[in-house]
Amino acid sequence: MKKVLITGGAGYIGSTVASALLDQGITPVVLDDLSKGRAEFVEDRVFYRGDIADAALLDRIFAEHPDIDAALHCAARIVVPESVSQPLYYYRENVAKTVELLESLQRNGCTRVVFSSSASIYAPTPDARVDESCPVDANSPYARTKQMMEQVLQDWTRGHGAEEVRVITLRYFNPIGADPRLRTGLQDLHPTHALGKLIEAHATGTPFTITGVDWATRDGSGIRDYIHVQDVAEAHAAALTRFDEVIKPAADDRYRVINIGTGEGTTVRELVTAFERAVGTTLGTREADPRPGDVIGCYAGIDTARDLLGWTPRRTIDEAVTDALAWRTKWSTHLAAS
Ligand SMILES: NC(=O)c1ccc[n+]([C@@H]2O[C@H](COP(=O)([O-])OP(=O)(O)OC[C@H]3O[C@@H](n4cnc5c(N)ncnc54)[C@H](O)[C@@H]3O)[C@@H](O)[C@H]2O)c1
Repeated sequence: MKKVLITGGAGYIGSTVASALLDQGITPVVLDDLSKGRAEFVEDRVFYRGDIADAALLDRIFAEHPDIDAALHCAARIVVPESVSQPLYYYRENVAKTVELLESLQRNGCTRVVFSSSASIYAPTPDARVDESCPVDANSPYARTKQMMEQVLQDWTRGHGAEEVRVITLRYFNPIGADPRLRTGLQDLHPTHALGKLIEAHATGTPFTITGVDWATRDGSGIRDYIHVQDVAEAHAAALTRFDEVIKPAADDRYRVINIGTGEGTTVRELVTAFERAVGTTLGTREADPRPGDVIGCYAGIDTARDLLGWTPRRTIDEAVTDALAWRTKWSTHLAAS
């Protein structure tokens, strides 16, 4: 593949994917409305500012780049609490607008699509490990938009007029870190995930609270599957390179789901230890009961990614934390100066 459309390519994951593709000689064509994406992340890239539902803009992009081989659909609204308070907004942005995007892709003959989905659609399992055959039961409007879109995409590949359409859905687990070359990273200096809370605790000298210490995990704390965002980006490159092997053009079933995680997960205590190694000091921690609604968490079975994409993650949790901290330093300096 030589050229790929990336929606949301000015955002955290999409911009890292774009960098990884450039490194492999694939040209990303970025479409982003910059509602959350950053102009700095697309400065030296082919970039169209606009909405994924803007059919005329999509037609113009394909007219100007008739050699686009595939589309990576990363654009979405992603904040779970916001999706609870504004569900209709989320269903419009993530579902209705994606349907319009798919119509534009079909009209312009773009038949290879890679979709950014989320592990948050999985139903909890007793041992926290989930593979692609595990039941889904999304528990927020945000996650339901992902679950719904997966169904829409699968139905699309079965419909009349889309006989050549093939879709690979990548279910990401918990991307952290930044491009190791620090071209891009998280736009937000105060992320709400556990690493963000660790950074906050370290900066303010307050103890970090481990909520839930009796889960059925190797050390009793909850588990997530934090994965270096560069590994996630390289999974996209692998999906593009292997696309026609993963789903052959005339295959009966032209829809595949693939987990993108580490295969082991990281417990909260392990994340704390990795953070302490990265900053070189011990962090005060205290233990507390789980908060209402807390769950054991989950981590990915990644046999499918290994078998179909020939991909496995290459970076450690320590590298992810170190790159997150390095990016934070660079980005906060940039924001202060701009
Ligand atoms: N970050 C995570 O932990 C995570 C986990 C699992 C899945 N995902 C999925 O990965 C994808 C990327 O997430 P991210 O963390 O990079 O988020 P992000 O907010 O950084 O990136 C999303 C980008 O899409 C753009 N966008 C949103 N709506 C748009 C629209 N209608 N038209 C054009 N551009 C639009 C935003 O400006 C932003 O740049 C999303 O689909 C998300 O659901 C993210």
